[in-house]
Amino acid sequence: MTVTTGMVGHGFYNRNSAPQMSAIEHVLPWLDEAVAGLPLEGGGAGGTIGLADFGCSEGRNSIAVMRRVVEALRARTDRPVLTVHSDLPTNDFSRLFTDLRPEGGSVYAAPEVWSAAVGGSMFDRLLPPRSLHLATTFNAIGFFSRRPLDRLPGYIQPNGPSRVSGNGEVTPAEHQVFADQASHDIAAFLEARAAELVPGGKVLIQVFGASETARTNDGLYDVLNDAVLEVMAAGRIDRAAYEAYYQPIYCRTLEELTRPIAEAGLPFTIDKKATYEAPVPFVEDFAANGDLAAYARDYTNFHRAFTEAVLRLAFAGHGELDSLVEDVYARAERLIAEAPERYPFTYVAIAALLTRTEA
Ligand SMILES: C[S@@+](CC[C@H](N)C(=O)[O-])C[C@H]1O[C@@H](n2cnc3c(N)ncnc32)[C@H](O)[C@@H]1O
Repeated sequence: MTVTTGMVGHGFYNRNSAPQMSAIEHVLPWLDEAVAGLPLEGGGAGGTIGLADFGCSEGRNSIAVMRRVVEALRARTDRPVLTVHSDLPTNDFSRLFTDLRPEGGSVYAAPEVWSAAVGGSMFDRLLPPRSLHLATTFNAIGFFSRRPLDRLPGYIQPNGPSRVSGNGEVTPAEHQVFADQASHDIAAFLEARAAELVPGGKVLIQVFGASETARTNDGLYDVLNDAVLEVMAAGRIDRAAYEAYYQPIYCRTLEELTRPIAEAGLPFTIDKKATYEAPVPFVEDFAANGDLAAYARDYTNFHRAFTEAVLRLAFAGHGELDSLVEDVYARAERLIAEAPERYPFTYVAIAALLTRTEA
């Protein structure tokens, strides 16, 4: 059982994922370099070059990245190319399918480029042995493969509340369980990719994370936590339900991303790694125009797109689930509008580019 059914579908994730694209843009030059040096031997039937993106959601950002890779690859070779866009089986793939064939032909305006969608968990093997030359994952591997604890009584997210809010608690023992799960997940992801990649193939892992001074989880989970506490105070959920609910994501440091690679003895070398802050369009717009209502709406839609499915799973037995969910996000939007300084948002991203070694 995976920890989420996916993002909010029907185009909602696509419309509210500009911050994720901004975080991806920082590492696109890494991809250019990786593609320039990719070995072009091996691969699938007919010498097909395999490219796969794991955690593609509705596909807008996934296709944008793949367009760039395909173009760079086409400058190097005429061999057939397969782009694979993968996410959980419960993900809403419908926009991805229509956007892959916008005018009845491939979105990748180059000859001999084929595309497929694969449903499955990125922590499992999903593709044939040695069929991939490049694997990517963006803003996704922070979702756990499983919920390692049944309850998180003091807060709704494993990294705990921000210093600004301080509202809630995750104990050091609880935190350690989540850190261990995150480490295990990186190893599982790379073990699967090690089997799928040709020797010399590349993996780019990019995800929301934490630096010495800031964490992506700060602000946005504080406001969600405060909104859920409000619905509890209003009697719409009880304390036991609050204590059993948490968003199963983890913001790693770069060290937590790269350490398991060496510790698990996986056949990868690290070519590049970085921690950086990505510019967030709704934060920049607010700084420029001071439109607080638009900021509160965009901020709420941004986090709603990736938290709503988990909220629905957590309260699935609730008699008025739709109205409960609307209530939570309406409260989150109101809380941001009332006190934006209480929920500052910074997009901290971490990334590593790896090479699959021969062994
Ligand atoms: C925040 S979205 C990122 C989407 C896209 N990569 C981007 O950067 O805009 C996270 C995605 O990871 C997916 N995801 C979560 N757990 C997963 C798993 N175990 N295997 C594959 N995808 C997963 C979710 O369904 C969701 O589509």
